[in-house]
Amino acid sequence: MSILLTGGLGFIGSHVAASLLEHGHDVVILDNLCNSQASVARQLELLCAKPIPFYEGDVRDNAILATIFSKHPIAAVMHFAGLKSVAQSATDPLLYFDNNVGGTITLLQAMQQHGIYQFIFSSSATVYGIPQYLPYDEVHPTCPINPYGRTKLQAEEILADLAVSDKRWAIASLRYFNPIGAHPSYTIGELPNDQPNNLMPYINQVASKQRPFLTVFGNDYDTKDGTGERDYIHVMDLAEGHVAALRLIQKSAGLHTLNLGTGQPYSVLEMIQTFEKATGQSIPMKIGPRRQGDLPIYYACADKAKVILQWEAKRTLKEMCESAWKFELQRQSLFK
Ligand SMILES: NC(=O)c1ccc[n+]([C@@H]2O[C@H](COP(=O)([O-])OP(=O)(O)OC[C@H]3O[C@@H](n4cnc5c(N)ncnc54)[C@H](O)[C@@H]3O)[C@@H](O)[C@H]2O)c1
Repeated sequence: MSILLTGGLGFIGSHVAASLLEHGHDVVILDNLCNSQASVARQLELLCAKPIPFYEGDVRDNAILATIFSKHPIAAVMHFAGLKSVAQSATDPLLYFDNNVGGTITLLQAMQQHGIYQFIFSSSATVYGIPQYLPYDEVHPTCPINPYGRTKLQAEEILADLAVSDKRWAIASLRYFNPIGAHPSYTIGELPNDQPNNLMPYINQVASKQRPFLTVFGNDYDTKDGTGERDYIHVMDLAEGHVAALRLIQKSAGLHTLNLGTGQPYSVLEMIQTFEKATGQSIPMKIGPRRQGDLPIYYACADKAKVILQWEAKRTLKEMCESAWKFELQRQSLFK
């Protein structure tokens, strides 16, 4: 049996594919390449030394889903295919609801038609919104403050209704915190097609002299050093969390909502210092104004995943920075 990964050539999906293959699972990938490159499939094939069925297409396309489900014995689906820019979701909300919510509905309908009921969904810490308390645990109220977060919450609500409607569904909705880093082969990593939205790709671009300096958005927050604090998680820890979530849904039906984070927040300045120490590269920076919609601090309560998945993030911030940089050094030769 195989696992279908939608968006499986993107940052998180490609690392989960690598982890699943290392654990002996077969994978099939569907990706429309709107934020990834076909050559990632080749890198995955080199890593696992076997061909990987890859379909270039859209998760909203019924016909391609029918082809995949008819041709491959799919046991479970991991749904990474989504758009993730908070800023773009505010300027083009219809695109985000169509892709993220519409895509999820089309995929679930196709699964139901083909009798496949195991599903893992890429949700996000953005569903929580302004913290009522920290760390966010899974029962923290959900009130996202941007359209992107609302697409994730709507998809979660659909999943909750689906799980109640039919006891065959076994669903894990995984609320990711801030994944960074790269696979230990350094042949897959974060490869945004456009301007990145998050800190680590910017730091890499400054370190590799593609940008002259890093702009830090605000240093007057009520945090340990005035800059924003986030819960960074190594993408390989996140990937292993998916392997654990797959084990869970294989034996336990219903909806399982779980944070995947470390529980440890780091500030932007701590991140820069750790990167500089880990890589020997210096990161020139300037302090800019706060960015609209940024929260000062948030981080996960990671206890539920520890108990339910018997999984916890293990890798340090230094390891995250080192691996991201080593991937950046190889990136130019691997991906033209
Ligand atoms: N990276 C993060 O910080 C983060 C945090 C929380 C949640 N998430 C969610 O996790 C998922 C994966 O994130 P990522 O960082 O790997 O993003 P990514 O952009 O690197 O990967 C998403 C992949 O999905 C593909 N895709 C998008 N829409 C598609 C569609 N309609 N049909 C087929 N393929 C499509 C893209 O080409 C890309 O390869 C997303 O749903 C994202 O919202 C990401």
